[in-house]
Amino acid sequence: MTTQKITKAVIPVAGLGTRFLPATKALPKEMLCIVDKPCIQFIVEEAVESGIKEIVLITSNMKRAVEDHFDNSYQLKKELEKSGKLAEIEALEKIEKMAKFIFVRQHEPLGDGHAILCAKEIVKDEPFVVLFGDDIYDSNPPAIKQLIEAYESLNAPVIGLQEVPKEDTYKYGIVSGEVQEGALDNLFLLNGLVEKPKVEDAPSNMSIVGKYVITPALLHTLINTRKEEKKELRLADAMANFLKEDRLYGRVLKGLRFDTGDKLGFLKATIHFAKKHPVLKDQAVNLF
Ligand code: UTP
Repeated sequence: MTTQKITKAVIPVAGLGTRFLPATKALPKEMLCIVDKPCIQFIVEEAVESGIKEIVLITSNMKRAVEDHFDNSYQLKKELEKSGKLAEIEALEKIEKMAKFIFVRQHEPLGDGHAILCAKEIVKDEPFVVLFGDDIYDSNPPAIKQLIEAYESLNAPVIGLQEVPKEDTYKYGIVSGEVQEGALDNLFLLNGLVEKPKVEDAPSNMSIVGKYVITPALLHTLINTRKEEKKELRLADAMANFLKEDRLYGRVLKGLRFDTGDKLGFLKATIHFAKKHPVLKDQAVNLF
């Protein structure tokens, strides 16, 4: 099956990050560092390693530091040059040249779905991926690549899933679906999606994670979902509408997931990546 190649990623980072206050009062949560790398850089690297060439970051007036992180750091590089710190300059340039970056402002935090729609003139009628700024995976292949692979074989939108303990289902968007036999593992054709159900009502223990392949048809549904009288527009609402009429797949992602928008998840990610850090790993192993 020939599908349109995915080259664009939309990364909404304009949320308020209320779960991480007071740290996120003046600092974007996406700029919180796992050892020495901001969370957002993990997400961008995941996209680039999966073949993405253009990154559309949906930001806000509180997220300027995210824009600066991927911009040319001219003054800093001039100073580093004076002191001969060439390796540092190279590291900065690597970040700036990783992809083509486009920044779009979401003027009000009207929901993740609204943030995605801020990129609609850029993605036009192409399929694209969406990665939320919080969900960091340590996986090979990269998490979003596992979804792109599924999209390429199915020519339909695919969302990332994770199995969670049944007693935790009330915290997440939970899907139901039929397992698909075939070349791809961990694949489900979805037939239901409920946000934060009561544990006894949860249709399964598969929760949605912040990774998606969006097709033009699903974007169209999101645009129409916008017309409903609602304060926040959520991608999950559009997906719940879409699966009633069209094929929406979910794939349980392989790898270790860290929800870095949550304090405990962030701490777990810090310990995990410190133990893998090229310079710190030996000392970190004894610390934790
Ligand atoms: P979250 O549900 O994690 O919300 O958004 P949040 O505001 O960032 O964090 P908490 O829950 O208050 O702590 C999922 C993704 O959608 C983005 C967020 O930045 C995050 O990447 N988002 C959310 C927007 O870009 N705009 C919005 O209006 C809402």
